[in-house]
Amino acid sequence: MRIPLIVGNWKLFKTLSEATGLINELKPLIGEIRDVEIVVAPVFTAISSVSAAAAGSPIRVAAQDCYWEPEGAFTGEVSPQLLKDAGCSHVIIGHSERRQYFAETDATVNRKTQAAVAAGLTVLMCVGETLVQREADATFTVLEAQVRGGLEGISDDLLRHIVIAYEPVWAIGTGKTATVEQAQEVHAFIRNLLARLYSQSEADTTRIVYGGSVKPENVAGLMSQPDIDGALVGGASLKADSFAKIVGFHV
Ligand code: PGA
Repeated sequence: MRIPLIVGNWKLFKTLSEATGLINELKPLIGEIRDVEIVVAPVFTAISSVSAAAAGSPIRVAAQDCYWEPEGAFTGEVSPQLLKDAGCSHVIIGHSERRQYFAETDATVNRKTQAAVAAGLTVLMCVGETLVQREADATFTVLEAQVRGGLEGISDDLLRHIVIAYEPVWAIGTGKTATVEQAQEVHAFIRNLLARLYSQSEADTTRIVYGGSVKPENVAGLMSQPDIDGALVGGASLKADSFAKIVGFHV
């Protein structure tokens, strides 16, 4: 019912030739896999080259952020419409690095999400607690506020174009993955919250993916959990062999 989704977040890495080179290495490695949705998120400047390199393969392309206006005097910003024009089908919004370093808030996440889904992109909306928040037993309060804030005013119809990415901030780039039990507990909580905010059937069809030090060695355990529908992968998505192993977690 929920197609597994594996997303490689390349962050601020890779030149044009490195980015297209990685796609060319990936294509034969993931050749036979058709039952997993595969997405990579290069930097803005590589989006159209990566889209061209991925054409004819199952690999789809995401941006790592977007603005909410379609056009105008907004120096430095990129709109969802232009992302589509460049070949994106997906966009990551509200990554914890954007919340931490670029003043992203639940309100801006919400505006960006509304604009991106309206433009026809699938949004990966990121939520996650910091270590301090987890240790203060605030995990569920923080996540509830982030999910509610990010989805404010989003209808059932638009929710179908949104994937929630749970990324505990303390697990990102630290090599410290959440245990499968910790991740499953949060995913079940988020699904439950979606059922309260929308309906059980919307909650059952919305994908919730995990991110934070996902590697070939731990992906199968995470994916075996009933409420974990995929992975948002940073470091391990930068090399073709490790990303292909993650995409092929079930083969
Ligand atoms: P990581 O990053 O896999 O390197 O921990 C995940 C992310 O930030 O999306």
